[in-house]
Amino acid sequence: MIGIFDSGMGGLTTVRAIIERLPGYDLVYFGDNARTPYGNKSRETIIHYALQNTEFLLSQGAKIIIVACNTASSVATDSIQQTYHVPLFEVISPAVDCALQTSKHLQIGVIGTKATISSNIYPFKIKAKCPEARVFSQACPLLVPLVEEGWLNKPETRMIVKKYLIPLKTRQIDTLILGCTHYPLLKKSIQAKIGKRTTIIDSSIAVADSVADYLQSNPEIDSQLSKQGQTTFYVSDVTEHFQKTAETILKRRVHLNYVRL
Ligand code: DGL
Repeated sequence: MIGIFDSGMGGLTTVRAIIERLPGYDLVYFGDNARTPYGNKSRETIIHYALQNTEFLLSQGAKIIIVACNTASSVATDSIQQTYHVPLFEVISPAVDCALQTSKHLQIGVIGTKATISSNIYPFKIKAKCPEARVFSQACPLLVPLVEEGWLNKPETRMIVKKYLIPLKTRQIDTLILGCTHYPLLKKSIQAKIGKRTTIIDSSIAVADSVADYLQSNPEIDSQLSKQGQTTFYVSDVTEHFQKTAETILKRRVHLNYVRL
């Protein structure tokens, strides 16, 4: 099984991308919606949650882990890697690679939660691979609650998106990384406000591509993964809202199992 976790529902955009890219692979998803958001919590707390989430997915039979949360990827990847010896995928590196392949003028924007942006992980990773790149970051703390509320197409949301993107637009970025797994759900509004000349990098698609490439070049790991086309969903709080949003994102019926970590 492929284990995927997020602080809540944003990681379902990664589930959607994995199902499209690797149809037939069994997935186990954990959404930590009782403790969401992670984006404004301390490093220590985010690491503690990420380790618990990983342990839970391993106990369910996951053979590889995807941290489908930019916030947890930003601060907890090293701790997970040091604690559990399992193939681990985070959403930052694939998005960085994709942005560097895409950007013509190396003017790259990144949007994310406060924790992701203040970790500086994106500029660090981009500049490590391409020192001449210029990176402009913007924390967008209001976007996660708007997505959670289902306000995807409201004029108020478009206004807030516009306000956040103005500084990046002024810098004439040609590539924009969606550094939060909730943001693909706002992709239309973001694209409309940043302009069609800026290419948007969706980290959920980037990580799905990198997992697929990895499995192709590591058949011994691939052969350990069950492939009955089943996805099992666990959450730390079963709510009607999560259920509805999950079904909207995945366009199918979803059964939520409750787990307390
Ligand atoms: N899933 C988180 C991320 O990708 C956003 C939600 C949160 O703050 O927990 O950064």
